[in-house]
Amino acid sequence: MASKLVGALPKVLGVVGAGQMGSGIAQLAAMNGFRVLLQDANSDALGRGMEGVSKSLSRFVKKGALTEEKAKDCVGLITPVRELAPFEEADFVVEAVSESEDLKRSIFGALDEVTRPEAILASNTSSISITRIAMATSRPHQVVGMHFMNPPPIMKLVELIKGMQTSEEAFARAEGLAEALGKTVCRSEDRPGFIVNRVLMPMINEAFYTLMEGVATAEDIDVGMKLGTNQPMGPLTLADFIGLDTCLAIMRVLHDGLGDTKYRPCPLLVQYVDAGWHGRKTGRGVYQYQ
Ligand code: CAA
Repeated sequence: MASKLVGALPKVLGVVGAGQMGSGIAQLAAMNGFRVLLQDANSDALGRGMEGVSKSLSRFVKKGALTEEKAKDCVGLITPVRELAPFEEADFVVEAVSESEDLKRSIFGALDEVTRPEAILASNTSSISITRIAMATSRPHQVVGMHFMNPPPIMKLVELIKGMQTSEEAFARAEGLAEALGKTVCRSEDRPGFIVNRVLMPMINEAFYTLMEGVATAEDIDVGMKLGTNQPMGPLTLADFIGLDTCLAIMRVLHDGLGDTKYRPCPLLVQYVDAGWHGRKTGRGVYQYQ
């Protein structure tokens, strides 16, 4: 019975959280023909998420990668919902709320109640332990980490994380879904930051130290790293793009989880977040937007 599920693709995908990651994942799934339920308890956030989907789809239309008709179909495949109750229909759920372990655990507890027992529950967490999130459910073997990169419709990678109790079958289903979404996967054990943020965030944090110590201006740090190491964005621009609050939350997970002072969050990053300068999404981060 269970082995039948290996590689089975979801008929209905549930996505929790309509922020930039959740709405991007919903869009990506719809662009690949999946029916999606996009849930957010906040109706403004839900509206903004759907607006973001339309905006992003229109960029694909503009460059000829999608017809107007297909873009409309994609929007039609996404049903925005305020409650989790409709997720009883979903056979695979990706949670993409902000990086708070308490919040994620309460959502996984609720998903456990509402979804069918065979449904896979994935978290898009960028650094929090899948093993601990899974313990909020009665089915830790069906909980897996599925970490999309921002922006999900464009970036080619999905990082898959195997919690202590994740079954091979759940992992295979997540891998099958990632591939059906056109992504390449990398696989990580459940350790703080996994692969991508274990390596990326200390670089961003170091860029903040470089700025704080007056080694160079933000612009020079970014141009140095962008052109000097062939990255699409310099580390400070990238931090604003990801969200400084998210970067700080991940540094704290690395610092707490690995215990090495090399992961201490830069005080300047902490101050920016304290000031509400969270990057592009708040109009101000290292740089000013609009
Ligand atoms: N929707 C649709 N299309 C988009 C888009 C979106 N949201 N964002 C960018 N694009 C498309 C543009 O239409 C354009 O397409 P063409 O080249 O085919 O014309 C292309 O992407 C490039 O976009 P732009 O010219 O506007 O700008 P850009 O060249 O700077 O690219 C970018 C934007 C793709 C975001 C690029 O800057 C980039 O790759 N930056 C790095 C992003 C990155 O590292 N993301 C991972 C962050 S780490 C993470 O997410 C993990 C975590 O846990 C924190």
